[in-house]
Amino acid sequence: MQPAADPRAREAATMLRVYGQLPFVPERATGCDIITTDGRRILDLYGGHAVVALGYSHPHLINAITEQSKLLLFQSNAVALDVRAQAAEKLIGVAPRNLRHVFFVNSGAEANENALRMACVATGRSKVLAITQGFHGRTAAAGAVTWNSDSWYGFPQKPFDVAFIPRDDCDAAAAMIDKDVAAVIVEPVQGVAGAYDLTQEFLTTLREHTARQGALLIADEVQSGVGRCGQFFAVQVYGIEPDILTSAKALGGGIPCGAVLCTRQLAMRFGPGDLGSTFGGGPVAAAAIVAVIDSIDREDLLANVRAREAQIREQCIVGPVRKIQGKGLLLGLLCDRPAVEVRDELLTHDILTGTSADPDVLRILAPLLIESKHVDQLAHALESLAPPTS
Ligand SMILES: Cc1ncc(COP(=O)(O)O)c(C=O)c1O
Repeated sequence: MQPAADPRAREAATMLRVYGQLPFVPERATGCDIITTDGRRILDLYGGHAVVALGYSHPHLINAITEQSKLLLFQSNAVALDVRAQAAEKLIGVAPRNLRHVFFVNSGAEANENALRMACVATGRSKVLAITQGFHGRTAAAGAVTWNSDSWYGFPQKPFDVAFIPRDDCDAAAAMIDKDVAAVIVEPVQGVAGAYDLTQEFLTTLREHTARQGALLIADEVQSGVGRCGQFFAVQVYGIEPDILTSAKALGGGIPCGAVLCTRQLAMRFGPGDLGSTFGGGPVAAAAIVAVIDSIDREDLLANVRAREAQIREQCIVGPVRKIQGKGLLLGLLCDRPAVEVRDELLTHDILTGTSADPDVLRILAPLLIESKHVDQLAHALESLAPPTS
């Protein structure tokens, strides 16, 4: 039998060519390593856009989704499920204390879409403020609050009025948050922007002024959450309690899922038919959520995230790296040359990292269980990179 042609060519022939792709094809993966079809072992410090929190083939996660698949692969929200109730209870257990209710969805954009709808419904207002450089997803409402989305947004109009607060500008935030504003949506650490951690003062200002004006604060923790910033959610690092929090990506450790968490007061505004999602909170996704939360706790991964962050900050300002921003394992390495060049060079050393919307920032979104030796490997590779050509 003829060997199948390169999947890159086959994808290009059959799928929309909307993604830039890296020059290797994974065959399998274990721990923090991807094994490629041509036998390379690549250290993955990018985790599939911050999804692979427990690394690959994590025994507890694999066992949980395998057993749940055998027991009950799917049922909708038309019936209650023990595993879904468990997932909701666990998630509330690790969330900021004021967030008592959950609505399950399938992705980050779907979580934000619902959060924004809830804010418009609950306040009766039609203006949403977002933060410059923020990213919230590709759907109609999430794309509307994403910075610089005009080049791809595509819809003839936005579903509500939108304005952007310059990031970290407390005076602008105080002036812009008024009684017309339904919600402010913010990533505490802006992921796509290059792991840019907003200041404490700015987040505190957003919290105080939304509360004062009867607007809601939505924390988009799709990328920053699930342990990535050293607490279960990044708002807990800042000591902020938002009215709504969205989660996805790492929440299922690789199984697609998302969640909208909100206060009891908000939850009481919504009844049957107001929100919905066929697959949201499906049993396999729910089992994955339970396994991810349990593993972060049992393996003390929040402490590991903080330790590895400290190690990266200590060892990795070498070679092309001038400065490090971000929190936990959502880190942006500011480079003295285009980050894409550094990423490509690191890949020749069998280390996978990511770029960001900031051309100078290389993004680290490593599995939460990376070890000290992995950081050593990154530091040595960075150190060995040739000086910039110009
Ligand atoms: C902060 C943030 N919000 C929302 C999204 C959209 O998530 P999804 O791609 O699951 O729709 C992303 C994706 O990168 C994100 O980083």
